[in-house]
Amino acid sequence: MTDPQWHGVVVTLATEVGPEDDRLDALSGALFELGAGGLETKDERRPITLIAAFPPEVAPDGLIAAVQELLGELELPSAEVALQTYEPVDWAEHWRQHFHPIGFGPLWIVPSWLEAPAQAQKVLRIDPSMAFGTGLHATTALCLERIVELASSGPVLDVGTGTGILALGALLLGAEAAVATDNDPDALRVARENAEVNGLLPKLRLSSSDVAFMKDRFPLVVANILAGPLEEMAPALSKRVAPGGHLVLSGILATQAEDVARAYEAAGLGGRRIVQKEEWVRIDFTAPRG
Ligand SMILES: C[S@@+](CC[C@H](N)C(=O)[O-])C[C@H]1O[C@@H](n2cnc3c(N)ncnc32)[C@H](O)[C@@H]1O
Repeated sequence: MTDPQWHGVVVTLATEVGPEDDRLDALSGALFELGAGGLETKDERRPITLIAAFPPEVAPDGLIAAVQELLGELELPSAEVALQTYEPVDWAEHWRQHFHPIGFGPLWIVPSWLEAPAQAQKVLRIDPSMAFGTGLHATTALCLERIVELASSGPVLDVGTGTGILALGALLLGAEAAVATDNDPDALRVARENAEVNGLLPKLRLSSSDVAFMKDRFPLVVANILAGPLEEMAPALSKRVAPGGHLVLSGILATQAEDVARAYEAAGLGGRRIVQKEEWVRIDFTAPRG
């Protein structure tokens, strides 16, 4: 399967900007907020360059101006901001090269075209296609570690499900049912296919609903999205956590953790715990008991 065109924005910073500059983290966060699906920073020598890859749904018109505006807001001097067009991605080939089995305690995430390792107790087969979620990214790994730790048997809500990996992982570990939402129809299609391959479709409800319109409460809610949308949805998402239940958030850069944590505390959640992997964090909360 190939993908429609992605675009890259290549930011070459002025030579006076060094790798320790705090504004680089802020720029990374802002590029993700702008819709970047991936980011590569080359800071081993000056000038530092950042290449932000934007998926096809982000129109390339206006991207350069938007990035220049960000640089202006952060007072980051740049030498050049340029647009590049990527060759369409052959996802099947991409994942054949980059996706390998990865274990989280008893739970193993295994590419659907490979054999499971002998030590895998619970095997979740995933074909990511063009959706996000293999277990290899720090944010997904952090969420899976928490799902394994909690081993919750009640229903689970997974907001921003991508490949379905978190909802399906929770189901495989014993959750009785899961609701998985995504605002990308391609992700919902991929999640459905993965649920089917693992025989978990009967326990999974897929939805494109905004959390603001949902009614049920869940003893476990997971959301691996991005800091900006997570902050915005704090009042609505907090209401979806059952009394005494757990909320697991990721997709948050370490530099953004405090703002996100405060938004959820303002919405009534407590017991914050922040766990970091690479430059990303997971934030755990619990809801007050009734
Ligand atoms: C970083 S991926 C996470 C995928 C998977 N849950 C994981 O942990 O690997 C974020 C997903 O959230 C979806 N998303 C982004 N904003 C959203 C929103 N406001 N509501 C629901 N889904 C959203 C994206 O389409 C994407 O599939």
